[in-house]
Formats: sequence, structure tokens, C-alpha cells
Amino acid sequence: MSLLEVENLRVSFETLDGVVNAVNGVSFSVEAGETLGIVGESGSGKSQTVFALMGLLAQNGRASGSIRYDGREILNLPESELNRIRAEQIAMIFQDPMTSLNPYLRVSRQLTEVLMHHKGMSRKDALEESIRMLDAVRIPEARNRVHLYPHEFSGGMRQRVMIAMALLCRPKLLIADEPTTALDVTVQAQIMDLLKDLQQEFGTSILLITHDLGVIAGSCSNMLVLYGGRVMEYGNTDDLFYRPSHPYTRGLLHAIPRIDHAGAQLATIPGNPPNMLRPPPGCPFEPRCNYAIDACRRQIPELQQTGDGRLRACLRAPEELQ
Ligand SMILES: Nc1ncnc2c1ncn2[C@@H]1O[C@H](COP(=O)(O)OP(=O)(O)OP(=O)(O)O)[C@@H](O)[C@H]1O
Ligand SMILES: [Mg+2]
Repeated sequence: MSLLEVENLRVSFETLDGVVNAVNGVSFSVEAGETLGIVGESGSGKSQTVFALMGLLAQNGRASGSIRYDGREILNLPESELNRIRAEQIAMIFQDPMTSLNPYLRVSRQLTEVLMHHKGMSRKDALEESIRMLDAVRIPEARNRVHLYPHEFSGGMRQRVMIAMALLCRPKLLIADEPTTALDVTVQAQIMDLLKDLQQEFGTSILLITHDLGVIAGSCSNMLVLYGGRVMEYGNTDDLFYRPSHPYTRGLLHAIPRIDHAGAQLATIPGNPPNMLRPPPGCPFEPRCNYAIDACRRQIPELQQTGDGRLRACLRAPEELQ
């Protein structure tokens, strides 16, 4: 049994202009200790996939399908049960640390209250544990700086405080939605190294959403490529990087000169992502695909396993994509 099993997840939003089908039957799993990368252009459904998992969809959003965490169905759980899972089992970090940190409270108070509330610790023990965690995320002079306010930290250090807060209760799964996008390249690399070290130390599984294929190459064993809310390709990261078999994955990788180059951004593929109010009837990538044939305009390709164990959704055979 995997730690996380997502099956046929669908997310839709009611809007004044009609229904937006943002996530359309996405399935994947995360093993204990694994880092899975989710990649795709803006609007491909990356965030809504994990928001559904965390019970964080906007008011007008609905999710269906199945999300099992540790064998238990958690999709659409009541708020009170989700709250407990969110704090103690699954934690999330965001691009903007101020999404999780309260600007008006000292860091010490924010960290200790989590531990007092969820772990029943005394204030004194909670403070010691908070300092230990700030040490673990390599904040210098943690014992003094724990009493500062969030704005008294630099951007990179604030990101570390947020990671410390997310890891306080030792969650089994950490979801990181573009955790380094707002940071400069050196700090990005430091944060990614830190996440890797923490994963080793605490055995945390990580679900990493990023635009940065360099980050995926450096830290994810498997990757999931999303487009138009559908899985285009899913498998071992090295296999997908060295032998991308889906035209979209190829497009993403195309303009990257060196895949191990930190900071390599998604290549620009000519054309625009689909209008999710009126998606194309066939393969969502068809309008931008150099290999599209007539059938691609009519038929949504199913996700199928290939010989080397990856999954791909494309009507064309890999050898036809020369
Ligand atoms: N509350 C909402 N109402 C209507 N549509 C929404 C709502 N929230 C998200 N969407 C739509 O859902 C689709 C998927 O959005 P999502 O946030 O998952 O994209 P993403 O892949 O995370 O993109 P980015 O890289 O820009 O963060 C988009 O088309 C978006 O416009
Ligand atoms: Mg997003």
C-alpha cells in the first residue's frame, strides 16, 4: 500500500460562464520516503490537485474520485477530521511563507502553539522543540531568533521558518507548491538541499509542484506531467528526461540545454494552454502538437502503460514521434 493513492480525481468549478473542469481524472501514488514531482504549465491543474487533497478548494469547487492516505479515504472529509490530518500527518508549504505565518505574532508563539495544541506539550518543552526545529532548518542562532517576528527574517530564512513550522509535528507527507519560485537561484538550491536532508532525517514523503524542471531532475524519483487537468506522462524521472515519449513532455524539455542546470525553466511551447471553459474535444494538447493526426481532434487518449513501465496518454506511438 502506498502512503498516498489518488485515483480518478476530478475537480470542477462553477462559474458565471459555465463549469471549469480543472482536474480530469488524475491518478498517481506516493510511496513512503518518495519525492514525486508534479510539473506542467500555468493552469494545468497542479495546485487544484493538491488543494483537493488538503480540503482547500475554493467555495465554488467540487472534487470527486478517491484520495487514500495511509489506506484511509480522505477526499471530502469533514473539516474537523481534515484539520487533524492536516496538522499531524500532511503538511503544506507555499511559495509565499506569509500564507502560513502570522505577521503579528512572534515565531516562537506560532511554533509553540502548534506543538502545545497538537502534541500536548508544555510551553517550555514546545519552545525547546521549536528551537531544535529551527536548528534543523539551519537558522543561525535559533535560540535568539525564535523570538523575532516573521518580517525580521530575510526571504530565504522566512521560507525556512515556514518549513520548520510544517515539519514540527513530523508529518509523513509534505506538499510543497512552488516552494522556491520566489527566491533567487542560490537560495532556491539551498532550500532544495535542505528539503532533501530533512527528508532523509525524518523519512518524509514529498509532493513537489514546480515549474522548474531542474528542481525536478535534482530531487524527484518520479514525475507526473499534467496538461489541461490530465496526466500526459507519468513515470521515472530519468526515463522521462532522457526519453520523453509524449509530445508535451518533449515540448517542456525542448529548450533546456542542460537538464542538471539549476534554474532551468519550462520551455515556451508555441501556442496557449486550453481555455478550460471550452476545452478541445479530443486530446487537450492537440492544437499545439506537431504530431497531431485527425483522430487526436476527436478522441481523448487514455493513459496507457508502455514497455518501460511509464504511463502515457497519446494516440501516436513513441516511435512515430521522430
Ligand atoms: N475558484 C476557481 N473558479 C474557477 N476556476 C478556477 C478556480 N480556481 C482555479 N480555477 C481554474 O482551474 C485551473 C487549474 O488551476 P491550478 O491552480 O490548479 O493551476 P496550476 O497548474 O497550479 O497553475 P500555476 O502554475 O499558475 O499555479 C485553471 O484553469 C484555473 O483558472
Ligand atoms: Mg499553482
